[in-house]
Amino acid sequence: MPAVPDIEEDHAIVGDDGPDDANYCGREGTVLRREAVPNSRGKYHIHTFGCQMNVADSERMAGVLESLGYSCTEDAAEADVMVMNTCSIREKAETKVYSALGEQRKRKQDNMGSLKIIVAGCVAQQEGEELLRRVPEVDVVMGPQFANKIGDLLERVEQGNQVVATEQVAVEEDITAPRRGSDLTAWVNVIYGCNEKCSYCVVPYTRGLEQSRRPEDILREMTSLGEAGYKEVTLLGQNIDAYGRDLPGMAEDGSGRRENTFTDLLDVVHAAPGIERIRFATSHPRYFTERLIRKCAELPKLCEYFHIPVQSGDNDILREMLRGYSHERYRRIIDNIRRHMPDSSVSTDIIVGFPGETEEQFQRTMDLIRDCGFDRVNTAAYSPRPNTPAAEWDNQVADLIKSDRLQRLNKLVMEVATERAQRFHGRTVEVLVERPNPKEPDTMMMGRSRHNKVVFFAGGPELKGKLVHVKVDRCNAYSLFGSIVDGP
Ligand code: 5AD
Ligand code: SF4
Repeated sequence: MPAVPDIEEDHAIVGDDGPDDANYCGREGTVLRREAVPNSRGKYHIHTFGCQMNVADSERMAGVLESLGYSCTEDAAEADVMVMNTCSIREKAETKVYSALGEQRKRKQDNMGSLKIIVAGCVAQQEGEELLRRVPEVDVVMGPQFANKIGDLLERVEQGNQVVATEQVAVEEDITAPRRGSDLTAWVNVIYGCNEKCSYCVVPYTRGLEQSRRPEDILREMTSLGEAGYKEVTLLGQNIDAYGRDLPGMAEDGSGRRENTFTDLLDVVHAAPGIERIRFATSHPRYFTERLIRKCAELPKLCEYFHIPVQSGDNDILREMLRGYSHERYRRIIDNIRRHMPDSSVSTDIIVGFPGETEEQFQRTMDLIRDCGFDRVNTAAYSPRPNTPAAEWDNQVADLIKSDRLQRLNKLVMEVATERAQRFHGRTVEVLVERPNPKEPDTMMMGRSRHNKVVFFAGGPELKGKLVHVKVDRCNAYSLFGSIVDGP
């Protein structure tokens, strides 16, 4: 029998930023902008699995730990406090957590009784006390809503307790600044949680109900980022179009329209001085409006980039997934984006092998990928998750069929993305310079275009943080190459 290929290997969650395993301290190029604190409490290390939301939570946890006097270590083997910020979106992500946890458990048993092991994030929320039973060496099990409470939880451990913090709580406004992984680009949460009930998805069970931050708090955070020299912000929400549903207020224009929608928020945050680019993720096709597209077209800081997961191109599958839209509606959204912002990059997520998916239904997904011309597609084989309805159904698709569909889909995705990238050939794109190219750090720099393409070009580190113009002479599916045509 042929070996089943690793069906989840190709998936990158929400764009290519999703570090799917990032070891804190931060990303390359980190410059800390915080008051020096005496580092007397010991060292911490955070291992981040999963999506951008988890990266943002890790930054907040790191901020709290540093404010308490802990210092960051890159080396997990010398940490006094080990935090695993976990992901449970698919089974494989969860398995990775348990194997990483095994190493720390052994360290604690062998020679370091004082080591504190904290399991945070989505697996923690999903497993709760069960995790303590499985791995008794763990000191804290904490759900995502407790990210900025990590200090209080550690204190309870120091008093001799084992702590499980997984109840639904109101996420308080951060008092401690996050320790950000970059000094140029920042994540800013606008809404926590998700009220959708997609039949495959564990997120509503792990991240709780929607909680929108107040516009004035978001603007305050962005203003201080601008003052600190940050140039780009990505606004984050599991379902960002739901922003404001839980906030009061009706528009005063007599339209009966709810105020405080995500579109309204864009007007507010656009005013943040110093921030030159704004992106957002993730959009839900059910709630994505033409008003939002018009607003993005109107506001110059809003980048020409949208991440709108479609999941399937077949209406029956979409219905079973409880997504609340048809493929026709999705196609209209893409048409609308192309009408108002013709050059925009659009990325999406696809799940293959959802229970009951036939070859014919899978082909409708392939058709949609061909027709919409995506710049990027995050693909995954369906993975049954605890507590989710679809995991219980008896029409599960065999692993071999899933992996075969995934391979065919990935091949098509690569063709479509490569073809779509060619539109940049010969054009000049604006690049925010982020860092030296790790492969040729002495001569080459890299950054991102407004379309979220990684761009490589000849230049030195003095360009970091500048907006430059690069004339493109080679286009791969996900990266562009060229040379600077003007100075900063
Ligand atoms: N199996 C496979 N992929 C999943 N995703 C969410 N839940 C599952 C699951 N059970 C994918 C979706 C989502 C992305 C973040 O992860 O495509 O958009
Ligand atoms: Fe992010 Fe979902 Fe993974 Fe949680 S389960 S870390 S929300 S991708």
